[in-house]
Amino acid sequence: MIKTCSCCGRVFRTEEDFFTDTFYWRLDTRNNLYFTCSCSSTLMIKKGKHDWYAPQKTLSSEASQVFNTLSMGDLIPQIPQGIAQLQRLLNNHDVDIKEVTYALKFEPIVLSDVLKIANLMTKSKNHSIKTIDHAVVYMGLRALKDLVTAAALRSLNFKSKLFQFDEFWEESFVAASLAEKLCQNMSLNVSSEEVYLASCLANAGKIIYATSFPDMADRIFHEARNSKISWRSAEISFNYPDHSILGEIAGAFWGLPRYVIVASLNHHAKKDTRTRRREEGKINSVVIVAHQLKNILFDRRYEVEEDLLNESIELIGLSRKDIHIFLRKYSTLRDNIRANIVAA
Ligand SMILES: [Fe+2]
Repeated sequence: MIKTCSCCGRVFRTEEDFFTDTFYWRLDTRNNLYFTCSCSSTLMIKKGKHDWYAPQKTLSSEASQVFNTLSMGDLIPQIPQGIAQLQRLLNNHDVDIKEVTYALKFEPIVLSDVLKIANLMTKSKNHSIKTIDHAVVYMGLRALKDLVTAAALRSLNFKSKLFQFDEFWEESFVAASLAEKLCQNMSLNVSSEEVYLASCLANAGKIIYATSFPDMADRIFHEARNSKISWRSAEISFNYPDHSILGEIAGAFWGLPRYVIVASLNHHAKKDTRTRRREEGKINSVVIVAHQLKNILFDRRYEVEEDLLNESIELIGLSRKDIHIFLRKYSTLRDNIRANIVAA
C-alpha cells in the first residue's frame, strides 16, 4: 500500500516507512487507523487496509520485550467505546463542537472530568469553565482532545488495593499544576497546556500496574512507603519493569499524544539518555522538575532524585534559589488541588 502525506509530500511504501519517525498511532472504533506524520499532520488509513498493524508494533525493542515477557496482549484495559468515539470525532479537523458536546452528554463522568481538569488548568487565569464550548475557546480543540484522553484514563478502575486511584490522581494533578505554574511564573517558552498534560500523565505506566498487575503495584507501593524509597527503587528491588517503559506501552494502546509518551519515557531519565528534540527536551525537563517538587510537597523528600532535579533545573535556566522561592509560593498547592478535585 502507498500513502502520501498531503501536507509534506512524504511517501510511505513499506512497513518500515510507516513506522519510521511517525507517532501517535491509534485505531478508532470503526477500525480506521490514524497516525501522525513527521511533519505533525494526521493521516488516516481506512478500515481493512492495515492488517499489518498492532499497537505493539510501534513499541521500542525494550518496551516490546517487557510486553512479551509479561504477556500483556489481553491484560491492558481498553478505553471505553464512547470515549474512543469522542476521540474519533475530535480527530476530525472540521469537527462541529455541538457534536462533541452532544457525544459528551453520554459520557457524564468524562464530561465532568474534562471540565474539572480544564478548570484546574485555567485556575490561575481566573476563568471558570462551565461548558465544553467555553473550554474550546480557552484551550483550542487540540487541548480538548488531549483532555478527553486524560479523562479517559481516569475512567479506568484501579484493581490494586494499597496503591489507590484517588492518591495517584491527586499527585498527578499536583505535578501537572506545578509544571504549568513553573511555565507561567518563570516565563518558560513552552506550551503550558502540553506541559500540564505531559506532567499529569507521565506516570501512565503506574496505571498499567494498577489495572493489569495490581498485586505487583501493591508490592511496589508497600515497599516504597515502608522502606522510604522511591517507586522506581522498589521496582528495581523486585526486578519488575520500569513504569516509564510501561508508560510507552500505555501510550501505544491508549493513543496518548507523542509529547505525553516522550515525557512518560523520560521523566526519570538523565539528560544524555533523553530525547534529542529541543522542544520535547524542554517539556521533559519541566516535567522532571515538577515531579521531583511534587515529592517535596507530599513530604517524601526521600523520593527526590537530587542529581536529576539539579540537572533539570539548570536545563530550564533556573537556580535552586528560584525553585526555593517558587515552592514557598505554592506550599498550599496540594490542599488547593485536593479541594478542587473533591468540589468539582
Ligand atoms: Fe515516575
